[in-house]
Order: sequence, then structure tokens, then C-alpha cells
Amino acid sequence: MAGWPFGSFGGGDQARECAALRRRVEELEARLAEGGDLPLPPPELRARIGGYDDADHFLGVGRKIFWDLKRLLGDVGTDLAAQAAVLDFGCGCGRVIRHFDGRGVARVAGVDIDPEGVAWCRDHLDRIGDFHVTGHAPPLPFPADTFDLVYAISVFTHLPEAMQFGWLDELRRVIRPGGLLIASFHAPELLPPDLADRRDTLARDGFLYVAGGGTPGLPDFYQNTWHTRDYIEREWARYLRPIHHRGRAINNHQDAIVCRKA
Ligand SMILES: C[S@@+](CC[C@H](N)C(=O)[O-])C[C@H]1O[C@@H](n2cnc3c(N)ncnc32)[C@H](O)[C@@H]1O
Repeated sequence: MAGWPFGSFGGGDQARECAALRRRVEELEARLAEGGDLPLPPPELRARIGGYDDADHFLGVGRKIFWDLKRLLGDVGTDLAAQAAVLDFGCGCGRVIRHFDGRGVARVAGVDIDPEGVAWCRDHLDRIGDFHVTGHAPPLPFPADTFDLVYAISVFTHLPEAMQFGWLDELRRVIRPGGLLIASFHAPELLPPDLADRRDTLARDGFLYVAGGGTPGLPDFYQNTWHTRDYIEREWARYLRPIHHRGRAINNHQDAIVCRKA
């Protein structure tokens, strides 16, 4: 059929084709919902959170990650409608949280250590949520048991180990009993070739933090971190119970873990 973008239904695996169709409809719906009336952060803030300042890249990746989060919620048998209070931990200049606009979540909040990213969100995304600058170490400015869902996209991919544990403990505090954490991480396959000699260390320890680079505008501790799934399921379980893992879940790149507070 001319113009039919979903492929043929003849003879294939119908369940798979239905799932693909559903994803395509969601993508189209998302594109329509973009609205386009939210302004874009300046190029230097866009580059700070993802390495690229390109506007289409910023919007496209943010939207994709929003739908990736929805898919992960679906994986564990829930959806966005069931999340009354949501926190974006490490919101940067709002690449993901901007896609909560008009989604009907009662309370949306974002925190980041980057005062410029938070200031931009406050000035331009205030209809979506409240935004706070936080310290490099806990606490967060919220009472215990506040959030149904906390998500952290590409944040634990940059923290040294002790800082990671401090924040897991704090996220556990602000998540309500039964609530969820969705966090992305760099799996070992994402170790770049120039760090091939660290592969054994990562396999042995399950955790690798490599200093040596940096991101203009962010503090020195903000480097690159890799995790094995075993490490996360063992070490993170001391704070929150890992209930689901999906490889390459975030923008077809970082893995994601979904954890539940008991
Ligand atoms: C790669 S950026 C991703 C930003 C955003 N999550 C996104 O996907 O667009 C990582 C962000 O984590 C923030 N960050 C790093 N450590 C943090 C911490 N301890 N608390 C809050 N934010 C943190 C950085 O300032 C930065 O904005």
C-alpha cells in the first residue's frame, strides 16, 4: 500500500510486527506531542550533557530516552500514569525532562550539580516542574519517601565509587516504599579501544572509573565509569533491589537497570 510506513503483515510473526507498529505509533505520537513551543538551551549547555551541540540531536535523543523510560516502566508492569511524583536525578539542561510536558504527571522535579543547567531549566521549563541545584554529596532537598520514580540518565556513568554509593543511599531515602529507580550505566562492551588494557580490571572488580578527561563546565570528579551487570546486581542491591535489566536500553547505547525500594 503506497505510503503505509509499517511494512507488510502478510506471513510474518504477527506479535513482532504488532510490537513494531506500536513503537512506531508511539514515536509518531511523541513527535506530534513535541509541540515545539519550549525553547532550546544554548549550544554550550547542550554540548555539556551529551557532547553534541546540534539542536536536532538534543531534541531527538531526549525524546527517544523519554520513550525508552516508558518502555522500561512497561517492562516491569507499570506505566507513567502510575507515577505521581517523578525526579530526574542529574537533569542537566532538561534534555529528557522537557518531554514530560503535558504528560499529566502530578509532580515532576529535576536536580543537578550544574547551576547553569538548573538555572536554564528554572527559567524555561518551570511549567513542567521544580528544579534544584544540589551539592556533590547528599542530601537532596526532599523529605523521605517523596518519589514514585527517580531516573538517572548517564549520571552513574560518571561518578567515582564512593560517591555512587552515597547517592544510591540518598535516592533510596527519597523514593517511596515500592517506588522505582531507573539508572543507566556503561556496560563493558562500551569500553573504548584505547582502554582495552583496563578490560581485565573491569571484569575483576565489576567497576571501573577512569579519570583523565573532563567536561568543560563540570567538576573534576565527573569522569567516565563502567559497570558490569553482576556488580550492579550485587552492590546496588545493598540499597535498592534490582528487578530488571535491559541491554542498550537508553538510546540504543547505555544499559539500564530498574530497582525497587522494598
Ligand atoms: C551526561 S549528563 C546527562 C544529563 C541528563 N540526565 C540527560 O540525559 O540529558 C550527566 C549530568 O549529571 C549531572 N551530575 C553529575 N553528578 C551529579 C550528582 N551527584 N547529582 C546530580 N547531578 C549530577 C551532571 O552535572 C550532568 O548534568
